[in-house]
Amino acid sequence: SSHLLSIDSLSRDDIDHLVRVAARMEPIASRRKITRVLEGAVLGNLFFEASTRTRVSFHAAFSRLGGSVCDTTGFTFSSMAKGESLYDTSRVMSGYCDAIVMRHPDQGSVAEFAAATNVPVINAGDGPGEHPSQALLDFYTIDKEFALQGKTLRDAHVLMTGDLKYGRTVHSLIKLLSRYAPMRITLVAPPGLEMPNQLIERVSRQGLDVAVRESLAGDFSDVDVVYTTRIQKERFTAEMSEGFNLSRDFTVDRAFLDSRCGPATLVMHPLPRDSRPAANDLDIDLNGDPRLAIFRQTDNGIPVRMAIFATLLGVEERIDQDLRDVPW
Ligand code: CP
Repeated sequence: SSHLLSIDSLSRDDIDHLVRVAARMEPIASRRKITRVLEGAVLGNLFFEASTRTRVSFHAAFSRLGGSVCDTTGFTFSSMAKGESLYDTSRVMSGYCDAIVMRHPDQGSVAEFAAATNVPVINAGDGPGEHPSQALLDFYTIDKEFALQGKTLRDAHVLMTGDLKYGRTVHSLIKLLSRYAPMRITLVAPPGLEMPNQLIERVSRQGLDVAVRESLAGDFSDVDVVYTTRIQKERFTAEMSEGFNLSRDFTVDRAFLDSRCGPATLVMHPLPRDSRPAANDLDIDLNGDPRLAIFRQTDNGIPVRMAIFATLLGVEERIDQDLRDVPW
């Protein structure tokens, strides 16, 4: 069976297919219809690192397809706290579950886990590596919002800002957007937190027009999407933490949007955002502003994750046959 470990494994056709399946999931995700298409199936939802959205939305998505979920969090839930390997844990969990979602602080760990099992494994974030389901829901959001605005992906200009070094969501998203090249991408990161050069070179070879700017000063009026990410201090080395002192402001707030961006700019963030003062993150002063798409993103996480399960487990053609009205 196949896994979803990285955007690398998805072609443009695969992504388009997932978007179409997700659109068909909307009546279920918005609780107008129910299905039992995954009745009897069990999901192992294994989180070795903190999560709100990804953990709960994968759980809800599997449940809304009629399946059951073994939901676990933290190293202490498992015998890995006693030194059990990823390999043994994977072999054991494969005997209990039909699909596994896993988040882990080490890059490559989810792939290592997946190599020991034939059960489909979804990478829900492997340290600073990738977070493919987040990129898919971000792309689904952009696609949906652009359709409403009458914009095309081909002419899009996306600004990615914040921690582009440790932000796994931007690593997956830039790879995904490279499937839709040509498209313009501008990267703005604090010093030391830049997007890895290797990744920039790779997506540029695939046709993305990537520009790097040092700050949020200047004109961004032709940007369609501002995608902000949190500075991930928990991933800093001790040396980086000690010397980290920003001389410029990287906050995306109402003043930035009103003075430097166009009126229809979409503001996105994978969340969580750091709402503490001087966090250099997406400011809460944009709450309630229609340009702020962050909670439309979180809502879109349900149909997209349902589409991922249905496709990996091969039931996507049965969804429409199995729909019933919500009885409550
Ligand atoms: N976007 C995201 O991965 O959020 P959580 O860490 O809360 O799952």
